Amino acid sequence: MGREFSNWESGRWIGRTLEVKNGVCAVPEGHINGMPAGTGYTDEVKSATDHLYERVADFIPEFEWPAYAPLVHAINTLKRDKNAVILAHNYMTPDIFNLVGDYRGDSLGLAIEATKTDADMIIQAGVHFMAETSKILCPDKRVFIPSMRAGCSLASSITGKDVELIREHYPGIPVVTYVNTSADVKAGSDICCTSSNARAVVEHICAEWDVNRVIMLPDEYLARNVAKHTHVEVITWHGRCEVHARFSAQDIRDMRSANPGVVVLAHPECPPEVVEESDFTGSTQAMSDYVKDNQPGKVILLTECSMSDNVAGMNPGVDFVRPCNLCPHMKRITLGNIHECLRDETNEVLVDEATRVKARKAVMDMIDVKFDPEKAHFDPDAPEKDVKVI
Ligand code: 13P
Ligand code: SF4
Repeated sequence: MGREFSNWESGRWIGRTLEVKNGVCAVPEGHINGMPAGTGYTDEVKSATDHLYERVADFIPEFEWPAYAPLVHAINTLKRDKNAVILAHNYMTPDIFNLVGDYRGDSLGLAIEATKTDADMIIQAGVHFMAETSKILCPDKRVFIPSMRAGCSLASSITGKDVELIREHYPGIPVVTYVNTSADVKAGSDICCTSSNARAVVEHICAEWDVNRVIMLPDEYLARNVAKHTHVEVITWHGRCEVHARFSAQDIRDMRSANPGVVVLAHPECPPEVVEESDFTGSTQAMSDYVKDNQPGKVILLTECSMSDNVAGMNPGVDFVRPCNLCPHMKRITLGNIHECLRDETNEVLVDEATRVKARKAVMDMIDVKFDPEKAHFDPDAPEKDVKVI
């Protein structure tokens, strides 16, 4: 028999616990992650998954584990049976990141993994443009996204038609597009970049074309941050990441006065004044590596919320202050819809062949640009530089 549970403060009924073999499992009856709560935690599931629990012990209370374990087991079994891999972005929630992700990393790292895998199916635990990038690189594999609604404010800020018009207005200037764009936009550009390699790509394409001007689309802040670190003149677009654009320089000053000695890390999609106030700026993977290598006493990551959870899990000795902004698109991916997508093979991502071939060239040319990750960081003291926004 289960026990009734109510919220201790409001008195509101929460649910009835289910009993499991070794005591009471305080999981309310109903559905958790799309599966009947507490069902399916069989001896087989328990022995296949219990060793995974310590990876998420800081995030999932032990009494909730029987609700997660069957889903994790089902996903991992389907992956094996269907020869599938899950490419998980650093912004995935800790359950996805730690329990079912086969490869984890930033946009560049995941794109490179896509080129290497011999899996038949790729499940992109990230947003739609990332799944498109995988499909662009791996036409022979089936690529799926657990939610078709996992978009991106940057990707939706510009269309292929916009790129065509920009080209007409600025002939002879290379177009560099951030990977956070649709396949159409990538197809219309000369080369792609990510937050890890943006500066190296800009300098590479300008040297190749023998010009000193570049069109960098669509993230205005990334373009402004890159412009400060290169002799190249930058023309950009007015796209913004709705997550990083919300941080302000005043936020950082307030956080520093509330947390003396804290180290502040930012993503280059943040406004330039935020980069100026931060101690270190780099891609999500660069931030994660910084924490691992430097083990700061106390740190703030100015980026998406799950990133701090994931980096904290890997660095138990570091104290994390967690001001963060949620990316509603990344958060559309759940264990439940990963399971459905793998099981039912729904939400396949397709790219028309002519677009794919052109986009592939832009992405592969980017992957071929060699750069020193140490020099890919953004200096907070870099001098101001004018950027034209179109
Ligand atoms: P990176 O992981 O490449 O730094 O990109 C961050 C991001 O916002 C992806 O949506
Ligand atoms: Fe797009 Fe920003 Fe979300 Fe990344 S964090 S998917 S850039 S909206």
